[in-house]
Amino acid sequence: MKVPFIDLRAQYKEIQKDFSRVIKDVLKRRDFILGLDVKLFEKEFAHYCGVKFAIGLNSGTDALFLSLVSCGIGKGDEVIVPVFTFIATALAVSHTGARPVFVDVDEQTYNIDVNKIEKAITKRTKAIIPVHLYGQAADMNAILKIAKKCKLKVIEDAAQAHGAEYQNKKVGSFGITGCFSFYPTKNLGAFGDGGMVVTNDKKVYNNLLLLRDCGRKRRYEHIVKGYNSRLDTLQAAILRVKLKRLDKWNRLRRKNAFFYNTLLKKIDRIITPFEARDCLHVYHQYVVRLKNRDRVIDILKKNGIDTSVYYPIPLHLQAAYKDLGYKKGDFKIAEKLSEEILSLPMHPHLKKDEIEYIVAVLKRYL
Ligand SMILES: Cc1ncc(COP(=O)(O)O)c(C=O)c1O
Repeated sequence: MKVPFIDLRAQYKEIQKDFSRVIKDVLKRRDFILGLDVKLFEKEFAHYCGVKFAIGLNSGTDALFLSLVSCGIGKGDEVIVPVFTFIATALAVSHTGARPVFVDVDEQTYNIDVNKIEKAITKRTKAIIPVHLYGQAADMNAILKIAKKCKLKVIEDAAQAHGAEYQNKKVGSFGITGCFSFYPTKNLGAFGDGGMVVTNDKKVYNNLLLLRDCGRKRRYEHIVKGYNSRLDTLQAAILRVKLKRLDKWNRLRRKNAFFYNTLLKKIDRIITPFEARDCLHVYHQYVVRLKNRDRVIDILKKNGIDTSVYYPIPLHLQAAYKDLGYKKGDFKIAEKLSEEILSLPMHPHLKKDEIEYIVAVLKRYL
């Protein structure tokens, strides 16, 4: 049997007709830049997240970067970032001129270890970026408490967690901003790049409207040095179609995760994902931990099963961050995770017999 890591074809087939209709509508209107669907999608996504405002941008990276810029963060400042995440979380900080300061992650949830944040705070620290890794919320109560005490901004990286909840509230609605990516493989993915910032802060919202559109107040009147970071109308139209299915797809992801858990329980050499109290995990990734990971990847591959590793190198050991002066041994949990984690196929259209087959192959080897 062949099991792809993700199957976007099945998703496309489910709603092909709706896609064709909305794309035709945009082509008829030709409002390609900041058109009707962008405005409607922003409204609908803000409502979905339970916040007042949403601003469509060209990527999740820019959502983080422009959030930092709109909060006035730049050269000479420090921003706390988990060391175990996709590099864009830290790049967004670096591109403002500020310095990312890494903090290790929790061994159970893989999210930032809230007990290690305060030690990393200095006079220069201006913000914390918790990442809701793999689709599970970081410990927001603890993070908000530290931020309040130390007068820091919280910018949520919710790139992997559309629809995830913490204490029955959607992620993205806790910090000054919440940042989403619509990279095609995300729980809510476009047919190209896209991103969104959500916020309840009117000032930040107004700043972001300027920053994403060349600092433009009105046609050819530019009041700040902005950027070109707009969400395309075509992408917004596609995302509106998909947003209607997001909750259903997240429920299917959870169902698949529980089925994996039940079957994998019988193999003691595999650690299955931990669901923290108060969290609704949306399983952007279904990540297990095991020894001899690279050998297992080979065996699965030989049996037609695609897997992936998010992430094999923690940020402090990336060549791009050599200049920060960290070394091997500085973040023990992240280093251990990077050697043991393995993402198994996960998407809403994954079938029961595919999961059974994956687990059977794992069982035979382990
Ligand atoms: C945790 C995290 N942050 C940020 C990003 C950046 O998003 P984008 O690829 O849309 O720029 C991603 C995307 O992969 C991500 O997973």
